[in-house]
Amino acid sequence: MQKLTSIRLPWPTNWAELFGSERPLILEIGFGYGAFLLHLARQNPDAHVIGLEIAAECLRAVEKSIPRNRLTNVIPIHSTAETALHHLFTPASVDQIHINFPDPWFKKRHSHRRLMQRDTLNAMVSRLQLGGRLYLATDIIEYAEMSAELLAETPGLDNTLSTPWANTLPGRVVTKYEGKALREGRPCYYFAYQRNQVPIHIPVQEEFDMPHIAFTSPLSLDEMLAAFESSEHKAGETHISFLYVYRGKNVLLFEVYIKEPTIDQHIAFVLAKRETPNEYTLKLGNLGYPRSTRGVHQAAAILGDWLLGLHPESRILNRSLKE
Ligand SMILES: C[S@@+](CC[C@H](N)C(=O)[O-])C[C@H]1O[C@@H](n2cnc3c(N)ncnc32)[C@H](O)[C@@H]1O
Repeated sequence: MQKLTSIRLPWPTNWAELFGSERPLILEIGFGYGAFLLHLARQNPDAHVIGLEIAAECLRAVEKSIPRNRLTNVIPIHSTAETALHHLFTPASVDQIHINFPDPWFKKRHSHRRLMQRDTLNAMVSRLQLGGRLYLATDIIEYAEMSAELLAETPGLDNTLSTPWANTLPGRVVTKYEGKALREGRPCYYFAYQRNQVPIHIPVQEEFDMPHIAFTSPLSLDEMLAAFESSEHKAGETHISFLYVYRGKNVLLFEVYIKEPTIDQHIAFVLAKRETPNEYTLKLGNLGYPRSTRGVHQAAAILGDWLLGLHPESRILNRSLKE
């Protein structure tokens, strides 16, 4: 089976093309060892089921079990929910979203990494089509209480239950975490919401053109190399770390970590000497599979400004950056 990751899939992804036909989309976030994902695929032969997971071990297990179960309407994707929702899915394109037992280490200090939080929930709501369903299950009462509050304060969703949550949901297949909770006598809390017509505008985040800066500088690559120090920067909600610089024959390679609200990338910028003396080009290197996001452009701008600032006679020749 082809291994799929949100870093390599087109932004947005044409799911009908990927699956070979147009059908309603069902999404499971954090499918773990995949019992529920496979159940969704079996129960919904007329839908396409997409699973998101960040744990490589879980992905490997599910990638094996899908062909063993002869299922052709389900694909697992290596991706965080945040990256997939913002970059892969267009607004109002998903019929159901399922989240089972997220964030088992739920504590206040982890709140920024929590799946059920305002920005991520808004992205889910925007990706659901009118009448689409959002299902959540948890065995942590504090998580249930926090989610109940968050969901109740979401204008784009209506509760389909008469209570904030239910303690049983008949006909559900039991997931690994659910089984453990039930065996240990812990109650589970199930939520079922429906997308209404209240609008929410969160456009899909497409890729920008590649950043590119050409400039002149009297400094040599070795002088620029000697001036480099690792540094950290904040540009809006994006954190950029310039980690290290490597010297090639006619290039410097800058290793950079960029953490944006919807994606983390570990990438490299290449500073290359041009044929004309004292002329340089700064570009995104091909290391890994870099995607040209706003954060990548912000990092290129910071690095370009730093390189130009190293000598008063440096001059921009041309600059292609998303401002
Ligand atoms: C406690 S496990 C539950 C697994 C499964 N749903 C079950 O009920 O047995 C939570 C899963 O969510 C995954 N996960 C955590 N954060 C995620 C995110 N932001 N995007 C996608 N998956 C995530 C974890 O790797 C883990 O497999």
